[in-house]
Amino acid sequence: MSNMNRQFLLAARPQGMVKESDFDYAEAPKPVAGDGEFVVQTSHISLDPSMRGQMENRADYVAPLEIGDVMRAGGVGKVVESNHPDFAVGDMVGGTFGMQDYAVFNGSTPLRRYPPNTSAEQALGVLGGTGMTAYFGLLDIGEPKPGDVVVISGAAGATGSIAGQIARIKGCTVIGIAGSDAKCEWLTTELGFNFAINYKTQNVADALDKLCPDGINIYFDNVGGELLDTALERIATNARVVICGGISRYNATGDLAGPKNYFNLVFRRARMEGFIVLDYADQFPAAAEVMQGWINAGELQQGATVLNGFNQLPKALIALFEGVNTGKLMVKTN
Ligand SMILES: NC(=O)c1ccc[n+]([C@@H]2O[C@H](COP(=O)([O-])OP(=O)(O)OC[C@H]3O[C@@H](n4cnc5c(N)ncnc54)[C@H](OP(=O)(O)O)[C@@H]3O)[C@@H](O)[C@H]2O)c1
Repeated sequence: MSNMNRQFLLAARPQGMVKESDFDYAEAPKPVAGDGEFVVQTSHISLDPSMRGQMENRADYVAPLEIGDVMRAGGVGKVVESNHPDFAVGDMVGGTFGMQDYAVFNGSTPLRRYPPNTSAEQALGVLGGTGMTAYFGLLDIGEPKPGDVVVISGAAGATGSIAGQIARIKGCTVIGIAGSDAKCEWLTTELGFNFAINYKTQNVADALDKLCPDGINIYFDNVGGELLDTALERIATNARVVICGGISRYNATGDLAGPKNYFNLVFRRARMEGFIVLDYADQFPAAAEVMQGWINAGELQQGATVLNGFNQLPKALIALFEGVNTGKLMVKTN
């Protein structure tokens, strides 16, 4: 175990696409557990689109991030030192560790605990924040019913790939929209999506007209922008439009166009609703149990792209916006 704590600090508020120079590399001494404290060594750090907004303090549901702070990031790791009665050396935990090797806690910050045989991919994916987002976004806001036609943007990413599988488990017809033929093939051959559309090479409007002539019952949106407009034009009566994210806008500069077709919500008596997964935190353990059941039954799979090496972290965040990942993106740091 090293005595050094490698870190990436927020160096600048990004302008447009996030850049490596928006981060500073630093080395601090490894923290020591004080009275009632424990130290976690991260093994994998999660890359999440929301980190871009947090770099600019655009997200009011988390504490502000100042220049020079350790960049906020989710992670998974093991307790390596403990003076806390509820956390023992060797426990596997997940939480907001930051872009660093070690983080110190006193039990007041919410952490997730995992059985020791949980993979990092599952801990940060289906049983972590993005899995919970898929679960509550689809089930609580989307309210799927058997036979519903569910369309998911960002479908081959961490959240989309789980949301689509849950929709399939609930008896829906699932159409994924993703950015490469390989991703589309993965969705249909491995994850059981009924259809997939490559938004970079296909005309999405034409494809949706063919695949769902009676309209879309649930649009689970991770992307926003033009795709959202295309979907809004095709919603069925009483459709639910779940606004999970809007990644197409996160690095955009200047004025953002709103959805032109929002008025179809009126004609179709439909609902468009956003949510923040953190509001469901008290229900995470119960949801993880259900998801674990689906995993055990072979109904739910976790895809992941794991990059190697602590110093890959800034590049990995940029790569997330370029679509490098299939499933959950993370960096193995230790
Ligand atoms: N509401 C909540 O509480 C909550 C919680 C977590 C996440 N989210 C949101 O959920 C969404 C997915 O997050 P995630 O962590 O699962 O990330 P992810 O989907 O694993 O990764 C992002 C993916 O977005 C796609 N993408 C990037 N830029 C795009 C663009 N301009 N247009 C269309 N697709 C683009 C890329 O795939 P392609 O190759 O397909 O382009 C990329 O792989 C994000 O919008 C995030 O903010 C919301």
